[in-house]
Amino acid sequence: MSDQSPEHTAKSGFETRAIHAGYEPDPTTGAVIPPIFATSTYKQDGVGGTRGGYEYSRSANPTRTALEANLASLEEGERGFAFASGLAAEHTLLKALCRPGDHVVIPDDAYGGTYRLFAHVEEPWGLRHTSAAVSDVDAVRAAVRPGETTLVWVETPTNPLLTIGDIEALAGVAHDAGALLVVDNTFASPYLQQPLVLGADVVVHSTTKYCGGHSDLVGGALVVKDLDIAERVAFHQNAIGAVAGAFDAWLTLRGLRTLAVRMERHCDNAEKVVEFLGGHPAVSEVFYPGLEQHPGHAVASRQMRRYGGIVSFRAAGGERQALDACSRARVFTLAESLGGIESLIELPGRMTHASVAGTELEVPADLIRLSVGIETAEDLLADLDQALA
Ligand SMILES: Cc1ncc(COP(=O)(O)O)c(C=O)c1O
Repeated sequence: MSDQSPEHTAKSGFETRAIHAGYEPDPTTGAVIPPIFATSTYKQDGVGGTRGGYEYSRSANPTRTALEANLASLEEGERGFAFASGLAAEHTLLKALCRPGDHVVIPDDAYGGTYRLFAHVEEPWGLRHTSAAVSDVDAVRAAVRPGETTLVWVETPTNPLLTIGDIEALAGVAHDAGALLVVDNTFASPYLQQPLVLGADVVVHSTTKYCGGHSDLVGGALVVKDLDIAERVAFHQNAIGAVAGAFDAWLTLRGLRTLAVRMERHCDNAEKVVEFLGGHPAVSEVFYPGLEQHPGHAVASRQMRRYGGIVSFRAAGGERQALDACSRARVFTLAESLGGIESLIELPGRMTHASVAGTELEVPADLIRLSVGIETAEDLLADLDQALA
């Protein structure tokens, strides 16, 4: 087991690293796949005589180590950290990098749970926030308070409106003010976008989504490139203890091995869905960064390999029609979450984003979000057609 990428994978292509980085076949048995180390503790050869530094699985577990090294390699960072959920990762990061009295800039369009964390957990603790549109570099600059702002936090593409933030420009804004740029890369996945390469300091993932990819786990991750930040995150990961268990770490690793091929198919199918929705009379607006008329299209084309598997749209017949479409869909399953191989449909205003109702992050009531899966494209289009009829 290695906490570094093996020598032969360090400079390899994405797919090779996804399959090999973080783990060499086990020297004792030759096991090609990392075992699930279902152990809480480790025998010591005399007091303090740990084997490979393992002493207790909250601090480190070899299955988790393999996942963390794999994620670091895919995001081209120095170190990765795996958590029990995306929100556990976010909370740990905020405790590691912020103090009461600090200020952060957050997106005005973001996952509802992230907003809830800032508004109802971090704010009472003393961490103040201002929201700004991630697509508007000047608005983000205006929201930054030099000397007080410690983090600029963005999602790109955002959840659920698929707005695009220019990572390179936003890193400049953050760094000019002495702050760090955090990018939630959940929607793009490391296959489509590597924020650290573009100047971000920390990448956040809900690995529940594309990294895991099969809707069978809940997990989160942080990847950083600065070793001082890594030390602070490592300390808080252990001190807070919201770590990924060995079983979930193993499932996430299994998912990552096929991330590249899954993402290609998610993108293929999403593009077909976008084309179909664009010509449908029951649809008033389609949100997808791959559309040339999308305001973030040029930036997305520069910083993303393709445009992803999430498509949002507004129902021309309002919330009533959106509700009907959600309940009539058959191949698209009505459910929260995203990024799995199966297609999902949801109404953000009443489901994933109910926690932002009445705030500056409120989403349109007639908005439908699709997580386009990798089923046969024609079946997906036929299902949408009957759901919108
Ligand atoms: C963009 C984004 N970030 C973070 C999270 C939180 O992750 P988790 O649900 O794994 O805690 C989610 C969940 O939907 C998300 O969509």
